[in-house]
Amino acid sequence: MTGGAGFIGSHVAEAYLRRGDEVVVLDSLVHGRRENVPAGAELVVADIRSPEAAALVRDGGFDLVNHHAAQMDVRVSVSDPRFDADVNVRGLLNLLEWALAGGVKRVVYVSSGGVV
Ligand SMILES: NC(=O)c1ccc[n+]([C@@H]2O[C@H](COP(=O)([O-])OP(=O)(O)OC[C@H]3O[C@@H](n4cnc5c(N)ncnc54)[C@H](O)[C@@H]3O)[C@@H](O)[C@H]2O)c1
Repeated sequence: MTGGAGFIGSHVAEAYLRRGDEVVVLDSLVHGRRENVPAGAELVVADIRSPEAAALVRDGGFDLVNHHAAQMDVRVSVSDPRFDADVNVRGLLNLLEWALAGGVKRVVYVSSGGVV
């Protein structure tokens, strides 16, 4: 679960825990908060673009990756579109590649336009 210390991701992580899943949250805490991560989930503090994140997703043996880590600030999207794309586009592509390499069966990605 990326972005699981954020607003939506923390609720999704809670729902996974409630249904009995083991949950690992990957979040840099750049915007999210440690206390948002529901009890019972393991928190790994790392950037979605980092080697630590790559190793976690590739080697974690996950069945499902739910991707909610995002640069959400529209002002930043406008003032620094390269940074926005780096987190939101490169971050997503990284995750997809690592999930594929790690044998993850399903990736859930939420954008502002819907759920894929
Ligand atoms: N909030 C809404 O109303 C809403 C509506 C529709 C879709 N969404 C989508 O849901 C997703 C999450 O939104 P949210 O409202 O929970 O945002 P949020 O800012 O509360 O959560 C995003 C999380 O991602 C983390 N993060 C940011 N950059 C990171 C990085 N480089 N590496 C690792 N972690 C990083 C932040 O620390 C934060 O915990 C976004 O893709 C957003 O577009 C949100």
